[in-house]
Amino acid sequence: MATAEATPGIAGDLAAKTEAMAALSLRDGGRSDLEAKYSKRVLVKTILKAPDGGVSLVGKTVTVGGWVKTGREQGKGSFAFLEVNDGSCPANLQVLVDASVHPLQELTPTGTSVLVEGVLSLPPEGTKQKVELKTRKVLHVGTVMDPSKYPLAKTKLSLEHLRSFVHLRPRTNTISAVARIRNALAFASHTFFNQHGFLYVHAPILTTSDCEGAGEMFQATTLLSEAERFHMSMTAASNGNEVMPSAQERLEAARAAVEAEGEKVRQLKAEKKDKKTIAAAVEVLNKMKELVAEFEVESRRVGGLPRTESGKIDYTSDFFGRQAYLTVSGQLHAETYACSLSNVYTFGPTFRAENSHTTRHLAEFWMIEPEMAFADLEDDMNCAEDYAKFLCQWLLDHCLDDMELMAKLYDKAAVDRLRMVATTPFERITYTDAIEVLKKVQAEGRKFENNVEWGIDLASEHERCLTEEIFKKPVIVYNYPKDIKAFYMRVNEDGKTVAAMDVLAPKVGELMGGSQREERYDVLVKRLHEMNLPIEPYQWYLDLRKYGTVKHSGFGLGFERMILFVTGMENIRDVIPFPRFPRHADL
Ligand code: 4AD
Ligand code: MG
Repeated sequence: MATAEATPGIAGDLAAKTEAMAALSLRDGGRSDLEAKYSKRVLVKTILKAPDGGVSLVGKTVTVGGWVKTGREQGKGSFAFLEVNDGSCPANLQVLVDASVHPLQELTPTGTSVLVEGVLSLPPEGTKQKVELKTRKVLHVGTVMDPSKYPLAKTKLSLEHLRSFVHLRPRTNTISAVARIRNALAFASHTFFNQHGFLYVHAPILTTSDCEGAGEMFQATTLLSEAERFHMSMTAASNGNEVMPSAQERLEAARAAVEAEGEKVRQLKAEKKDKKTIAAAVEVLNKMKELVAEFEVESRRVGGLPRTESGKIDYTSDFFGRQAYLTVSGQLHAETYACSLSNVYTFGPTFRAENSHTTRHLAEFWMIEPEMAFADLEDDMNCAEDYAKFLCQWLLDHCLDDMELMAKLYDKAAVDRLRMVATTPFERITYTDAIEVLKKVQAEGRKFENNVEWGIDLASEHERCLTEEIFKKPVIVYNYPKDIKAFYMRVNEDGKTVAAMDVLAPKVGELMGGSQREERYDVLVKRLHEMNLPIEPYQWYLDLRKYGTVKHSGFGLGFERMILFVTGMENIRDVIPFPRFPRHADL
C-alpha cells in the first residue's frame, strides 16, 4: 500500500518540492495557486474563507480586484484603507495602500474599481480583520467620475430607493447576497432533481396555450408594429400631397380592372388568338386578382390592424399565423415529456399579466415545475416537501454567511427558520379541515378581512394565519373545491373537490401549487366544458389522455417566493435582478 505513512521520505520530498516551486512562482510574479481560473486574480472569498480566515495565507503575494465599499485616508494622507468587495462573498478585504504607490484620492471614493497586487499580511493587534493586503502595485483603477453623484452613497439606502438603480444595486450588500442565495437555490434545485432522476426539459416561453385557463397572458404579436408602419406610410403619403385613394376606392378600382382584364381574356379566347398571347393576358389577370385579395385585407384594416370579415383582428397575418403569448406556466408542456420520460422538470421564466401590486406578485417570475408519471397526490406532496427541505438544508450548508447577513439585516429568525423547515415534517390538512380550523380561530376572535366559508379561495391572510399562527410551520393544504382550481386537476371521488395541493409557508403564504392531473379523457373534456374553455386549443393535451394515459402529478415552486421565504425579505421586487410589475420594466 503506497500511502504517505508507508513512504514518508517520498511524500515529504514531494511536499517540500511543491512548496519551493510555489514560492518560486510567486516570487517570479507567476500565477499563484490561489488564482481564479480565467481572471488572473485571487477572489476575496479564496482569501477570507481559507482556514483561519486567511491567516494561513499570510506572506503570499496576490492580485485582487473589486469595488471599493469604503475608503479612508489615514496618517495625514500617508496611506489609505480600502474595503474591497468583489462579490465572491459578503465580506470585504481590507486593502492598505501607501501614498507613494498611488494617489490616494483616486482610490478612496465608494464605487471605484481597483485591481491591486500586494502581500497578504497580519493587521495590527486588536483589528477586526484577520488578514489585510499591503499593496505593492495598483494595476487598474476605474475612477468614479463624480463621487457626489454616485447613487449608492455610503449611507443606508432603502430597498425601494435602490429599485430606481437596478443597474447599480448589485453593488450593495443586500442585493449581492440575494444574488448568491438565488444562484445557490437554482443550483440546489438542479441538484435535487438530478439526484432523483428527473430530466430537465425546456418548456417554450412563447406558447399558444393558456396553461391556467385564466386568460392572464401577455400577447406576443408583430401586428401592432406593422399597423404603426402602415399608418405612418399612409400619413407620409398624404402629407406629401399625393392624392391617396382610400382603401375602398383602391379595392373598387382593382376589382374593375380585374373585370376588364377578364373580359379581355374572354375576347382573346373567342378570337382564338395564339396560346402565348392568351397565357400572357391570363398571367396579368391572376396578378390583378392577387392585388384584389391584398386590397380586400387592406380595406378591412381598422387603425392599421387587419380584420376578419366579422371585424375581429385577423391573426392569420400575425407572425405565427395565430395568437401567441408568453407562457404562464410550463406545466402542460412538461406533461408531454413526463408522459414519455417519466420524471421531468422545467425551470424558466413565466409571465402573468395580472394587475397585482402586492409584495408577492411579479409580472415575470421564475418557476420550477416537476412533473412525475405514475405519481399521485401523495407522491406529489412528498416530493414538494422533500424539495423545500433540501433547499433549506443546502443554504445552511453552502450559504450560511449570506444567510447570516440576511438574519442581521432583515429577519432575525431567518437562519433558525431554515433549520426548522429542513427538519420538521410539514403539516398536511385538507381544505375542508383548514376551513374548519380558520372558522374556529375566527369564532375565538381572530379577525379576517375576507369571510371564511367552504368554497372560498383562501386569501393570503388565511394562508398566513394557518402557517404562521396556527401550525407555525409549512402547511400543505390539499383537496380544494374544484370550482376555484384549474381545469387540469383530477376530480376526486366526491365530485366536489380536486386532488390539488398548495404548500403554504410563513412570511409568503403560497409557496408552491400543484396537483394530480386529470388523466381521464372524458372527465377532462367535461371539465373544459364546465369552465367554458374551448376544446380545440387543448386537443394536443387531450391526446395525452387518448394515447397511453397515465396517472401523473406535479407542482410549481415560485422561485422568488422561495427566496422571500428563506431571506425573510419583504418585497418580491428585491429578490429578482430586474423586477417587472405594472408600469415597471426598467432596463
Ligand atoms: O399556483 P400556480 O399558478 O400554479 C401553476 O402555475 C401550475 N401550473 C404549477 C404546476 O402545477 N406545475 O403558480 C405556482 C407558484 C405559486 O405557488 C407561487 O409560488 C408562484 O408560482 N406564483 C407567483 N410568483 C410571483 N409572482 C406571481 N405573479 C406568481 N403567481 C404564482
Ligand atoms: Mg396557485
